[in-house]
Parts: sequence; structure tokens; C-alpha cells
Amino acid sequence: FGSSASEIQRIPSFVTLNSDDISHFKGILGEKNVVLDEDKLDFANTDWMRKYRGSSRLLLLPRSTQEVSEVLKYCNSRRLAVVPQGGNTGLVGGSVPVFDEVIINMGSMNSIVAFDKVSGILVCEAGCILENLISFLDNQGFIMPLDLGAKGSCQIGGNVSTNAGGLRLVRYGSLHANVLGLEVVLANGDVLDLLGTLRKDNTGYDLKHLFIGSEGSLGIVTKVSILTPPKLSSVNIAFLACKDYLNCQKLLSEAKRKLGEILSAFEFLDREAMDLVLSQLDNVRNPLPSSKHNFYVLIETTGSDESYDKEKLEAFLLSSMESGLISDGVLAQDINQASSFWHLREGVPEALMRAGAVYKYDLSIPVEKMYGLVDDMRVRLGQSAKVVGYGHLGDGNLHLNISAPKYDDKILEIIEPFVYEWTSRHRGSISAEHGLGLMKANKIFYSKPHKAVETMASIKKLLDPNGILNPYKVLPHSLSSCT
Ligand code: FAD
Ligand code: MLT
Ligand code: ZN
Repeated sequence: FGSSASEIQRIPSFVTLNSDDISHFKGILGEKNVVLDEDKLDFANTDWMRKYRGSSRLLLLPRSTQEVSEVLKYCNSRRLAVVPQGGNTGLVGGSVPVFDEVIINMGSMNSIVAFDKVSGILVCEAGCILENLISFLDNQGFIMPLDLGAKGSCQIGGNVSTNAGGLRLVRYGSLHANVLGLEVVLANGDVLDLLGTLRKDNTGYDLKHLFIGSEGSLGIVTKVSILTPPKLSSVNIAFLACKDYLNCQKLLSEAKRKLGEILSAFEFLDREAMDLVLSQLDNVRNPLPSSKHNFYVLIETTGSDESYDKEKLEAFLLSSMESGLISDGVLAQDINQASSFWHLREGVPEALMRAGAVYKYDLSIPVEKMYGLVDDMRVRLGQSAKVVGYGHLGDGNLHLNISAPKYDDKILEIIEPFVYEWTSRHRGSISAEHGLGLMKANKIFYSKPHKAVETMASIKKLLDPNGILNPYKVLPHSLSSCT
């Protein structure tokens, strides 16, 4: 299930890999960076959810921009299709081949190029793992403007290519706001140096934005320049319970108003998400065990003045308790408790994976309407599956997940197209932060007008005329299969 390869035709203009191709790649990359080993290929062919699986026979590990350039130039001239791959943690089937596309994994390009301590601007290679960048910056007194549960495996190039949102977007904004420059290799091997390190630069079209969120369909990102905020000394985390969704929503408005500039995360999980985490993960416990609550909210504040921040947060919690917005709550007393609160929220995707089959939907919906979809989906599915809601409430981003013992077309028919129609009717987005990948390439019209999609297809044609970069993904197949 999931790969949809059975529903799509392999694009006939793509050639099949032969032994001369492999020799050529060995000439560019050296023997050991041209991987034919079956176990390694199996891993690279399979996505994080083990739902999408390709059948590539070749994994390439370039170590420099020059090597990426030579590889793409050759693939383009031969019409060999490729999949750019980072940490392979993507959740929409974008990071693995659909058929036999050559996998270009960026993990060997993992050096930090420069860090300017005055401006906080970091320049690094695309294959740097997010958690390694977080640790590097921590030593310098800075943080990354994004954080997410997959930080131990995902790469900054993958984050940029998916325009990953994550847990801090409410404070620092999206990667469109924080990425200052990129180096990108185009399909024909040309290197586009957009690696600026300036806050302001209005010299014409800002091309880097085209590549942020383009999911490997327009070029391979080889270097990233990113603005990093200073690490502030006072971080507080509260884990709260609300009796209904309306209270969560009101709590968000109050938090924005009363915590203002120190608010750095506002996440939520519903009772079903919490039950799954508690039943599926080891070493977790409910910090609010006295009774069952319908909703849990994690609020983080980050500021520079310990006593001022604490006073502000405590006053906010007290008034929210008195007004009945919060029914219970606890403030982390130390760093271990703080990370145990985060673990409950960040552990939801893993808990869902352990519970069985999962249908994942990543939606932007106006906050006041958002949970209505979860309620409606529960009514539709009845006892046939568990409906779980969690996500980045502060950004209006719902993760609607449906958990079932196994994948079943009958369940899928109840979910889709209802979920997309519902979202479109409420002027939401069918992809808030995960991208379209293979899963939603054909669903794009639910959230984008035809003219906009046609313009996207023209840009794709301009930058990748042979369509070799991540085919079958992002753009609807009707517009992308005629190369
Ligand atoms: P991959 O999965 O390898 O690739 C993702 C896409 O980017 C593919 O289309 C691929 O072709 C392309 N790509 C990768 N690297 C490059 C490159 N250098 N140049 C061009 N294209 C490239 N996402 C969020 O937005 N917020 C979250 O909070 C979040 N949490 C997650 C938690 C878990 C446990 C997991 C498993 C995933 C989560 N994700 C989240 C989804 C995912 O999008 C991110 O993990 C991440 O941004 C993907 O990075 P990656 O290096 O793994 O990329
Ligand atoms: C999250 O916020 O936990 C991630 O986006 C992953 C998911 O949606 O499951
Ligand atoms: Zn998320």
C-alpha cells in the first residue's frame, strides 16, 4: 500500500541503468560512494513509515558540489531519473524512488562551512544532520530556528527542501524567513550560487525561495546559509490539560496576548494521541494522571530574564486556571522533566507507527474550525479505526492521523476524498508542512488554483526540461509525465 506505483506509469523516456553508467559514476565518485549493496539499497528505497518503496538499483553518495554537478550533468544527458535524498524522514513518499530512479543521498556532505558569531549566520553543507547543527550552535551560544522530532536523522537540505515547520515556527517563522541563501545544483549540472549571507538583498527575483519547499523537484540543495537566533538563558515548559477544544483555542489567544514575545511553542495532543503515546512508548508517564483529560497543551517560553519570564508565565497560568481555560497543569521543575514533556509530544509519530497502519494528514485549517474535522472523521469511521489529532496549534497546523490494525482500502475510501474536500471547503491547505511528495501530487488542486499549478509546471520545465529530478512527485501526473 502507499507506493501508488501501480497507479502510475513509469515515464518511458527515462533510460534504464546499465553497467557503463555505473562505471561512469565510479569514475566521478570513487568505488565506495557508488553503492550497489542490497541491504543498503533496501534501506534507501524504503521511507520512514515503511509505506512507500521503490526499486532503485543504485545509491550515490557525493562528497562535494562538484561531484553533485558531474553526476546530474551525466544523468541529464542520459535521461536517468534521480531522487535527491536527505535523512529519509519525509512523510509523503517524496524521498524514495517510485520505480528505479537513482538515489542521490546527501549525507556525506556534512561539513560546517562558516559561522559568524556576530550576526549568527551559519553556512553549512546540505547533508548536516539537524541535531548536529543544534549541538554545534549550542556550544556557540546559538540555536537553530527550527526543531522537530526527526532531528536525529533529518538533514538541513531535507528541511529546506520540504520547508519543514516543526516546533518553533510560532516564534521564529518558516524557513522562508530564516534561510538567507542556498547553493543549488540544477538538473543539467549548473551550479546556482545563491549562497548569500545578508539579511537584506533586493537585487531582483529572490530565487532561493523557489527551492525552499520544492522537494527536490527543481534542483539539489548543496549548501545552506541560515540565520540562527541567540540561545536565551531562561526556558520554561508547562504541560496543561483542557476540557474541550474551545478552551485550547482560547488558551492560544490568551498565550499570544499575555506571553507575547516569550512564547516559543504551543503544541497540542488530544486524549487519543496521549493514550497511544502512553501505551506504545517505553519510559513515559502522564504528568497529569489525576483524571482523564480530553486535550493536552504544551507551552514553552524562551526569554532572557529568568524571574521576569517565570513571573509572566505563572501569572498567565494562574489567570487561565481561574477562568477555567485550564483544568490541570504542571510546570517543569528541571531539564529532565522538561524533556519528558517534549517526549510526550514528539513521541506521537513513533507511537502511531508502533500501533499499526497509519493514514497521515498534515493540514492547515483556521484554528477555530480545525478540530471539527477530527470530530467529523470520528463520526465517519465509527469503530473501524482510531482517529488521532495533534500538532502545532500555534500555527494552525493539525496532524490528523488515522490508526488501524492494517491498511484497508475500505477505510481509505471513508477518509479520502472527504478529508481533502473538507479542508478545501474551509480554505485550508492539504499540506501544511510535510510537502506533497508522491502521496499528494495529484491532490494539489484542492489547495492551489489551476493557473498557479500551470505556472509551477512551467518553472519545472524551465529548470528541469527532461524531468529527471524527483519525477512523479509534487506536480500532478497529468502535468508532469509528458517530458
Ligand atoms: P528526506 O525525507 O530525505 O527528503 C524529503 C524531500 O526533500 C524529498 O522530496 C527529497 O527528494 C528532498 N530532498 C532531501 N534532501 C534534499 C536536498 N539536499 N536537495 C534537494 N532535495 C532534497 N516535518 C515538519 O515540517 N515538522 C515536523 O515537526 C516534523 N516532524 C517529524 C517527526 C518525525 C518523527 C518524522 C519521521 C518526520 C517529521 N517531519 C516533520 C517530516 C519531514 O519533512 C522532516 O523530517 C524533514 O524536513 C525531512 O528531512 P530529510 O533530510 O529526512 O529529507
Ligand atoms: C509532528 O509534528 O510530530 C510531525 O510533523 C510528524 C507527524 O506529523 O507525525
Ligand atoms: Zn508537525
